[in-house]
Amino acid sequence: MTENSFDVGHRIGALFDNQAEQYIQFADGSYTWNFLEKPAFDRYIPDLYNSSTKALDIGCGTGRIIKHLSSRGLLAENIIGIDVSLELLKCAKKGLLGASFVNNSSEELPLISDNFDLVTSNMTMHYLDNQALERTLNAVHRVLKTGGTFFFVESDPDYIPERRNPENLNRWLELRTSWGTTLPYFNRDPRPFLTSFLINHGFRYIRGWAVNISEAGKVDLVKYNRYFLRPYRIAARFEKIG
Ligand SMILES: C[S@@+](CC[C@H](N)C(=O)[O-])C[C@H]1O[C@@H](n2cnc3c(N)ncnc32)[C@H](O)[C@@H]1O
Repeated sequence: MTENSFDVGHRIGALFDNQAEQYIQFADGSYTWNFLEKPAFDRYIPDLYNSSTKALDIGCGTGRIIKHLSSRGLLAENIIGIDVSLELLKCAKKGLLGASFVNNSSEELPLISDNFDLVTSNMTMHYLDNQALERTLNAVHRVLKTGGTFFFVESDPDYIPERRNPENLNRWLELRTSWGTTLPYFNRDPRPFLTSFLINHGFRYIRGWAVNISEAGKVDLVKYNRYFLRPYRIAARFEKIG
């Protein structure tokens, strides 16, 4: 029997459940989170940091994006997180009173249409094959208000030699995670895929792609120099145009 993409979402959820302990230990203190991903949010969407922004975080994991958005002025009660891993959602719920959570694949957002000012996705889309990602992006489009923002951060495929090999493009690889486990990883170059899909499906590009390491990352000079010299994350902001 061939696996359809909904099965893939559930399989990834089960894998994250199994390694939830390791992932939870890793998430908040992660160097890339603190000095690449989090600063990318602050660089690209600071105009949305206010109490009226209604936000949805897809693949919310332990809720660190929601915590960050709350620390920047969004109200927790205006934020919903969705994830396939029950264990990670349990962790997110504990730390985030006020926010709401949905245990589901992002392919199907059981939420009302034209409702959000902001949809975010940090390091989640590489767990979706092309079909699942297309379904997700269509669902994101549906739940965003016209003029709403889709902002995402992904890993840069140029960073890992195995991912650059053309034979490995657009297929699942089994890769080592930063929290000491292995997980399937759908290896695409997000830039051409997302740009062409999004602009053909009711979005316009606003800004993004390069993510610079923040100066504060100099607390660990070895890591700072590594991430300064080579790309590691990409991030972009798109807007729903109708
Ligand atoms: C690397 S973690 C990142 C978590 C969170 N975005 C963050 O940065 O803190 C990837 C997350 O994506 C979730 N995920 C993977 N596939 C998903 C899907 N189809 N729908 C919803 N969540 C998914 C996983 O369960 C996991 O929580």
